[in-house]
Amino acid sequence: MVKFNSATRLFGKVSAESEWRFLVNETLAGEKLIVGFLKDILAMGIPSKFLNESLKKQVDEEIEHVRMYHKLVGADKLRSSGYDIHLKKVVQDLNSVTLKLFALQGMLEGMALGALDYRILNWNEGPSFNVDSIAKLEESEHVGFSYSSFSDLIRFEGRISMCEFKRVQKQVNKIFSTAFNGAVIVDLLDPLDSFEIEAQAIEDSVAMKSFRRNSAKIVLSAANAFIDNYFLAAENV
Ligand SMILES: [Fe+2]
Ligand SMILES: [Fe+2]
Repeated sequence: MVKFNSATRLFGKVSAESEWRFLVNETLAGEKLIVGFLKDILAMGIPSKFLNESLKKQVDEEIEHVRMYHKLVGADKLRSSGYDIHLKKVVQDLNSVTLKLFALQGMLEGMALGALDYRILNWNEGPSFNVDSIAKLEESEHVGFSYSSFSDLIRFEGRISMCEFKRVQKQVNKIFSTAFNGAVIVDLLDPLDSFEIEAQAIEDSVAMKSFRRNSAKIVLSAANAFIDNYFLAAENV
């Protein structure tokens, strides 16, 4: 049984156990997605030895995250809200290492950090607390280690325009907001559990609004830091 020690609930009447399971499943889907992205990026050829080695180290860490979260949800695995499926398609279609890294480190890692923050704060007696704490430390590093290799990337594939970054940012944000909403969540949770739950009640929940606000803030700050560092590097190439 999941231990739960807070009145801060995202999905109203849904049991604490189902809410926790939903959130950890979403994290597991993200960790799997990240492993796939990293392998795709590495296969494109990386112009910097440091970046190449850091990405390989990240692959090892993300594989470990998949293993840890898989162990936590085990047979209770749910379908994801679908963000992973849509994001995979968008990132696959990008033909730039920089833009793929941007979607991954500038946005998806930020989203992961938002979810981890929420669970660490509100589920600190839950079964994922230790795993979340380890993952958070590593995800925080994953957000920024590519900055020092931006000059090499610019020489390798030319300069990415602000328009291209903004286009990816818009696409990814749309995927997050479409997937993480009341209607999708009600559909995914155990039907018995969500019998009396309405999508609108989830949308209106104070905790959900605060979760979204905090996650959006972290994603925006990671994306801005990525873009700012990129254009700073571009001035000197
Ligand atoms: Fe991870
Ligand atoms: Fe990560």
